[in-house]
Amino acid sequence: MIPHSKPLIDQEDMAAVSDVLASGNIAQGVKVNEFEQAVSQFVGTKFGVACSSGTSALHLALISIGVGSGDEVVMPSYVCSSPYFATLHAGAVPKLADINFLDFNISVESVREHLSEKTKAIIVPHMFGAATEIDELLALGVPIVEDCAQSLGAQYKGQQVGSFGAVSAFSFYATKMITTGEGGMILTNEPEFYNKLVEYRDYDKKSLSSTKYNYKMTDFQAALGLSQLKKLQHFIERRRQIAYAYNTSFSDCNIELPVDNPSKKSVYFRYVIKVSNRDWVQQEAKNSGLICQKPIYQSLHTYLGLLGYPNSDRATERSLSIPIYPSLTNDEIEKITQTLRRLLPQKHK
Ligand SMILES: Cc1ncc(COP(=O)(O)O)c(C=O)c1O
Repeated sequence: MIPHSKPLIDQEDMAAVSDVLASGNIAQGVKVNEFEQAVSQFVGTKFGVACSSGTSALHLALISIGVGSGDEVVMPSYVCSSPYFATLHAGAVPKLADINFLDFNISVESVREHLSEKTKAIIVPHMFGAATEIDELLALGVPIVEDCAQSLGAQYKGQQVGSFGAVSAFSFYATKMITTGEGGMILTNEPEFYNKLVEYRDYDKKSLSSTKYNYKMTDFQAALGLSQLKKLQHFIERRRQIAYAYNTSFSDCNIELPVDNPSKKSVYFRYVIKVSNRDWVQQEAKNSGLICQKPIYQSLHTYLGLLGYPNSDRATERSLSIPIYPSLTNDEIEKITQTLRRLLPQKHK
């Protein structure tokens, strides 16, 4: 069986974790500090604050820029529920926007329709590893929280994603671009936001005047993150190579392939095709030993019984995520393309 996702952990990663465990200093310490500096330097921001997950990163990101009770936060409907819950944690009200069907990223036009005088932030995920049109969103004049959970290393006009917004949030969950098992980070250039992030991340020896959390990362997670970060460029190259192989193999299939725009170098966190008989293809692939998945289980508006999100609906109906990760072997890639070429509809000649 070829799984849908799988982390790549090598001997060097294991040795890095093992060294920290042997040191006796296993909670948040110098390695976390080093990891924060390494990620912020890589992305090109002044500050990094490591934390326990992408969801805690989004929560801290929102409260650090002053989002609170009664404020509204705009986000796409076609995303996992993490940004929704992070907004509720901040006491704010999530407002859902539709996406562009082409690249699954938030639609600027739809965002405009959901702005109000109560809007305090827009959460902007760079979906499946491809940058969104961040310039157009920045021009709206509302603080942007970039959600880079799926896009560490992706670029927009030659600049790393995560360096555009007021704050940006990353996830290092097991299957992300790099992993610390669970984990996250917030990046910013603003000293004021940085101080708040550090203030809220943990509770010890601090005033009771505002709510504090325990969202810390451990040093053994950070050691894994540092070791993984060294391999990120290789991971991205391998993902792009696999995407290229898929693009070539599926070029005569009657499906929509992921778009890659030269100004937005995708890191292919996911390789998502659009196919009309998606559920059948997914089941038949599974019967042949290949796990493909709906990349987003359900659009958020459908949980809430809301209407008016046609692109999110179409994306939910048709998209299928095909395994793409650095540890896939050439034999596995061959099996994936052969299996899917047999199942996918062909273009009429
Ligand atoms: C776009 C997006 N935002 C946030 C998250 C949440 O990250 P975590 O699972 O680390 O809390 C994820 C995780 O899948 C994600 O894909």
